[in-house]
Amino acid sequence: MNQGLPSQDDASHAGWVAMRALFPLGVHSAFSDARDEPPPLFEAEARSMANAVPARQREFALGRWCARAALGKAGLAAAAIPVRDDRSPAWPAGFVGSITHCAGFVGAVVARADVLEAIGFDVEPAEPLSADLARLVCTEAEISWMHRAPPPPSADWGKVLFCAKEAVHKCIAPRSGVMLDFREVEVNVYPLDGTFSARLATRDYPTLPDLSRLQGRFAVDSAFVSTAASISVSCQASPRTSTTDDRQANSLFSGKAPPS
Ligand SMILES: CC(C)(COP(=O)(O)OP(=O)(O)OC[C@H]1O[C@@H](n2cnc3c(N)ncnc32)[C@H](O)[C@@H]1OP(=O)(O)O)[C@@H](O)C(=O)NCCC(=O)NCCS
Repeated sequence: MNQGLPSQDDASHAGWVAMRALFPLGVHSAFSDARDEPPPLFEAEARSMANAVPARQREFALGRWCARAALGKAGLAAAAIPVRDDRSPAWPAGFVGSITHCAGFVGAVVARADVLEAIGFDVEPAEPLSADLARLVCTEAEISWMHRAPPPPSADWGKVLFCAKEAVHKCIAPRSGVMLDFREVEVNVYPLDGTFSARLATRDYPTLPDLSRLQGRFAVDSAFVSTAASISVSCQASPRTSTTDDRQANSLFSGKAPPS
């Protein structure tokens, strides 16, 4: 089977450089602009796409190709990445990872499980979130913050929050088995350093990891909003260490003056 690389190193995609900066050390990534022709799937993968429409089969195949390319960078030979019951990829033993696709982009990230407990990666077109979707996705505190925060260079904060929550879901759902509603998680965006944190806005779930251990990063360019959420093996639960910039940005969210 031809497992040549997707267009992951095409330097014309300046935005991809910013995307790669989203990931902690030890993460391997592979991207495609979705114009690549993906190689055939492994049989176990093809079976799960047997009834899918051609466009879905293609995005799935591109995602699996990127995932195999990323795993190859980590030293693994190409092998099937089946679909789990919760629709998440069944990564090879000893690895965690995440796949995303949207118009014009497909990407996968992987890391050894002794480096990261989990990772979620999400990319969305850089367009504003519709008002209807914003009401479904955002908490009242998030909406209030969005109205006061200086806007991002494209899209809007609603799309950043949506994308961040999808990355959080991909990071925490496979291990916990919990499918949270968007408004059950509150995301705190730190615009000045391109990071975000997440906390449960409602009741706790016993199988969920402590979300204070989750590290979030986001990037916005003219084409895409991209987010990564990860939990490092070495990161113990602790309050986030704030810089002055963080405190000022965070005060936009809380509505309170930053502590001096
Ligand atoms: C699963 C979900 C996050 C996918 O996001 P999306 O923007 O629609 O689509 P993307 O292309 O970015 O991601 C799709 C990939 O996510 C991965 N995925 C699907 N279900 C997953 C799960 N339960 N956990 C982790 N990854 C999952 C798959 O790899 C999938 O691609 P593939 O089927 O080709 O392998 C989204 O459809 C969803 O169900 N969201 C609702 C839950 C949620 O986000 N809650 C937020 C509160 S934390």
